[in-house]
Amino acid sequence: MKAVKLREGIYWVGAIDWDLRNFHGYLTQRGSTYNAYLIIDEKITLIDNVKYYLYDEMIARIKDVIDPSKIDIIVQNHVEMDHSSGLPMLQKIIPNADIYTNSNGIKGLKLHYKQDWNFKEIKTGDSISLGKRELSFITTPMVHWPDNQVTYCPQEKILFSNDAFGQHIASSERFASELPMGIVMEEAKKYYANIVLPYSKQVQKVLDLAAPLAIDMICPSHGVIWTPDNIGEILAGYKAWAYNVSDNHRALVIYDSMWKSTQMMAEAIHETFEKLGVRAKLLSLQHNHISDIMTDIIDAKFIAVGSPTLNSSILPTVAAFLYYLKGLSPKDRIGLAFGSYGWGGQSIPILHQLLGDPKECGFDMLEPIKHQYIPSKEDLENLKISLEKNIKAKLEEQ
Ligand code: FEO
Repeated sequence: MKAVKLREGIYWVGAIDWDLRNFHGYLTQRGSTYNAYLIIDEKITLIDNVKYYLYDEMIARIKDVIDPSKIDIIVQNHVEMDHSSGLPMLQKIIPNADIYTNSNGIKGLKLHYKQDWNFKEIKTGDSISLGKRELSFITTPMVHWPDNQVTYCPQEKILFSNDAFGQHIASSERFASELPMGIVMEEAKKYYANIVLPYSKQVQKVLDLAAPLAIDMICPSHGVIWTPDNIGEILAGYKAWAYNVSDNHRALVIYDSMWKSTQMMAEAIHETFEKLGVRAKLLSLQHNHISDIMTDIIDAKFIAVGSPTLNSSILPTVAAFLYYLKGLSPKDRIGLAFGSYGWGGQSIPILHQLLGDPKECGFDMLEPIKHQYIPSKEDLENLKISLEKNIKAKLEEQ
């Protein structure tokens, strides 16, 4: 296992999780990496570590550069176990290393590993000297946990950003410029939508704090590294995503169906959006993973969700999607509830409430659409006419 040299004295020594397909509910179809970075200076420093089952891979990469027992300092930018669960093994070989992290980091590491290691508490603005280089710290609570921080090396103009700017991509390439940019940006957007989106307000603050820094390289804790060729692109992406820049002319029609009546309604709704020049995606929950749908939600202003009535409620696939959606908390969207029913018709008010109630998704809502049993051609035409009027009125309000 080789270390990858990023600069003179700075190496990527992380691990590649080729088989990872599920990151707490997020479909990681391209696998992931856990990135750790080694700095060779008067004080030898390791920034973050890896998931416990890939610890040997990280150690082998460190050994490619230096004896791991010579590490003086660990910077722990985040407690979550994909970046910290190598620590208990690492501490066995470097029990006296200083572990620099913030107060939430210390608290979280103690609660995870029940050890009182050699913690050194940092705050935003603090810096430490490694010899020729310094590291300074900015705490970034809730991007992604309360303990997150980023570490900046002014001499190298490198930002070690941990979860921020990450992507779940397993590859033998280490730089974004070595992969097709469309794929890297799509995975960065998916990562934002499924991990970072609820904390967009905090991301806005991080972008403000990072703005004055000279940055030539962003080294995240997952996926590939950003360099001057593409730093502008990822920063522009984060700005748009953090400030909720959705497109009035994009819609998603998300549904599941029992006997295809709700599907027929979904198709008619999709056609109506298209007729109005709103680019719409038709997304069956039987065929699309909820974490992929979240990536599309980043751009779409209109979110239509359909379910037939089942047992006085909604289909479980739709319920799972809506609870995932609510947790990730996209803002300033327009919702539409629709569905077919046999007798009770409870699914439609339930969907309307889950999308529109301020305590749920809190979307601005269009008039709900329901239909008993199977819609005829004429019913579908009438649905389109009344929805068209509804959408036009809503677009005029925007
Ligand atoms: Fe990659 Fe929040 O851990």
